[in-house]
Amino acid sequence: MNKTTTRTSNYNKFLGRKTLYLPKHIDRKRKSAWSGHIPFSHSFIKKINPNKFVELGTHHGGSYFSFCDSVLKNSLQTTCYAVDTWEGEEHAGFYEEDVYQFVDNYNKLNFSHFSNLLQMTFEGAVKKFDDQSVDLIHIDGFHSYEAVHSDYETWKQKMSPNGFMLFHDTSVEQPGFGVKRFWNELMNKYPNQCFEFYHSHGLGVFSLDSGSPISEKLGFTMGRESEYRQRYEKQAVILGRTMKWLPKPLWHLIY
Ligand SMILES: C[S@@+](CC[C@H](N)C(=O)[O-])C[C@H]1O[C@@H](n2cnc3c(N)ncnc32)[C@H](O)[C@@H]1O
Repeated sequence: MNKTTTRTSNYNKFLGRKTLYLPKHIDRKRKSAWSGHIPFSHSFIKKINPNKFVELGTHHGGSYFSFCDSVLKNSLQTTCYAVDTWEGEEHAGFYEEDVYQFVDNYNKLNFSHFSNLLQMTFEGAVKKFDDQSVDLIHIDGFHSYEAVHSDYETWKQKMSPNGFMLFHDTSVEQPGFGVKRFWNELMNKYPNQCFEFYHSHGLGVFSLDSGSPISEKLGFTMGRESEYRQRYEKQAVILGRTMKWLPKPLWHLIY
């Protein structure tokens, strides 16, 4: 088998036959800066099949509900927790109670038997989890260097030895945003355990296990030009366009 065929079959193994995932919980009113990573989150949670998943920073649920969708569709036994004050902050903007009401209703209607909303601060929620009990965490709270560094340090001890940590906004260069600096430090320290998507503000994938390179675990090659990355970036564009132009009742045609 040549190199390209091997790589393609690896992507297919990872993504499954239907690669395009369109999230029903997203609409024009509730677009998320995360939308380009939604196909990845949907496949990734299926791939690693965690016992416990925690998200820090959920807002409308753009990222969170795509993880939950996959848990449901793939009959995983994952318990999910979304942690947020649902008040907002300087970077995401401050918002009203109706955002929590939407997330709570959507969660109750679709996922309440395995998904829990913790309306509190990250600092308050950490006490609810045993050490080494979380297999996957997505960190998307306040984006200053100090905040993301503190989220990482605080929650690292809660992670299982084979766990994964995801960081959003790794490519944002704006005053007050420090995820990029934090991520570069992590990549310098653990180059074999880090993979980064550059689209949709950047998403860092960090594997806590130092045993084998993250590329082997996920079954794809590293590098900015990898076919895997390009495929997801294409999906991001399709997702964005579809959300904009195709009426939601017709999404099932490609979903
Ligand atoms: C960027 S938004 C999350 C976006 C979401 N993941 C998505 O897919 O669209 C950040 C959220 O983190 C929450 N947040 C920030 N810092 C927090 C803290 N220390 N405790 C609880 N919530 C926090 C804010 O209320 C806000 O809703």
